[in-house]
Amino acid sequence: MTDKAKLDVGGKTVELPLVVGSEKEVGIDISALRQATGAITLDYGYGNTGSCESAITFLDGEEGILRYRGYPIEDLAEKSSFLEVSYLLIYGELPTPQQMKDFNRNIARHSLLHEDMKNIFQAFPPDAHPMAILGSVVCALSTYYQHGDETHEEGLNQSIYRLMGKLPTIASFAYKKSIGQPYIYPRTDLDYCTNFFHQMFAVPTEPYPVHPDIARALDVLLILHADHEQNCSTSTVRLVGSSQANLFASISAGISALWGPLHGGANQAVLEMLEAIKAGGGDVKKYVAMAKDKNSSFRLMGFGHRVYKNFDPRAKIIKAHADRVLSLLGMDDPLIHIAHELEEAALKDDYFIQRKLYPNVDFYSGIIYRALGIPQNMFTVMFAIGRLPGWIAHWKEMNRSDKNRIGRPRQIYTGSTKREYNPIHKR
Ligand code: CMC
Repeated sequence: MTDKAKLDVGGKTVELPLVVGSEKEVGIDISALRQATGAITLDYGYGNTGSCESAITFLDGEEGILRYRGYPIEDLAEKSSFLEVSYLLIYGELPTPQQMKDFNRNIARHSLLHEDMKNIFQAFPPDAHPMAILGSVVCALSTYYQHGDETHEEGLNQSIYRLMGKLPTIASFAYKKSIGQPYIYPRTDLDYCTNFFHQMFAVPTEPYPVHPDIARALDVLLILHADHEQNCSTSTVRLVGSSQANLFASISAGISALWGPLHGGANQAVLEMLEAIKAGGGDVKKYVAMAKDKNSSFRLMGFGHRVYKNFDPRAKIIKAHADRVLSLLGMDDPLIHIAHELEEAALKDDYFIQRKLYPNVDFYSGIIYRALGIPQNMFTVMFAIGRLPGWIAHWKEMNRSDKNRIGRPRQIYTGSTKREYNPIHKR
């Protein structure tokens, strides 16, 4: 292969350099395109557009491969822990025992919120969606820590520990607020996931013992969600951060992007869909037909992916994980049977086969959250807790790169051409 692409735009030819990644992915660097030809590229939804070079996550959607910093997701889900994976994503290498100990301690010690922040929770209506609370309170963290200097490693690390430590506290406070129970403070003697269950489900009058297998079940889910290269929320974090907005504000924007049902909000939507199927007598074929009907806006939630045109490797792990968690808890959730039937019906259907639509990460994750006692409107919050280290890693990579420029896409203008202003009394 040559190392240049040639493009002819209205008789003007430009040679554009090719950029080849470490897994042999090829990109055409079009930085010189507009200056040489006057033209720009147009790519709705950015399906063909690379916004950066990144060394964090490799994803091959055709082969169903996902690796964090070179480590296969299957190995990490089986052998690692969420905080170890977080360290790997953020700092690039697996930690030594001392680095791991320090990272754990720093995160645990930053898990408390400033007492005044409790007033922010009080101001939300009781039925406020926890994703709205999460995004708002994370942004509010930048008011409490506005003198931190993220241009230096120590200052940035402080913001990282604060976000990693406080996000589960904010999430659990949002839940406690919605059910009218007292906020439960974090415990630094518990591991990350055990502490999260404690903050969610303990009350001041009673502790909430957590079986280690249950904590591990959540830990695996968080690992599987920890990064997914340039998805909608991560690109949002990068775009906001490219203006040199601080880490808290950038992550808050990512939380908002994640909320939508086409992205992280799909895990809540899947459960709602499975419940509707159950309530309607379990007719999965009806829902497959609805998803195919071009006159209906209904989509099979938890199915399809922009990048995966093969099984989402995370979905494979989660499916087996869901079966394991349910048997561990001795539960027989009718929704898992409906999910299996729906998956089978869709995978046999020509519409889904032709479009290469497979179950994605959100298809089975909600069933596990439900089994773990997590309320439905908190599912996307769980996704956000999992995705946090990925967002941080991308913000850091971009912020520290000498290639970083403010993100500022162009457009093809399709509005009115020049016209004359008509004063209001003449209209
Ligand atoms: N149900 C029915 N049809 C679908 C679905 C679906 N879930 N997903 C895609 N299609 C069809 C779509 O109608 C289109 O058909 P046609 O070519 O006839 O117009 C074709 O498949 C391609 O779809 P697209 O909308 O161009 O694909 P996209 O890459 O823009 O969208 C997606 C990807 C994930 C938004 C989409 O598959 C979807 O809406 N899925 C349901 C929501 C969901 O599960 N989201 C979670 C994504 S994974 C985790 C995450 O990112 O947070």
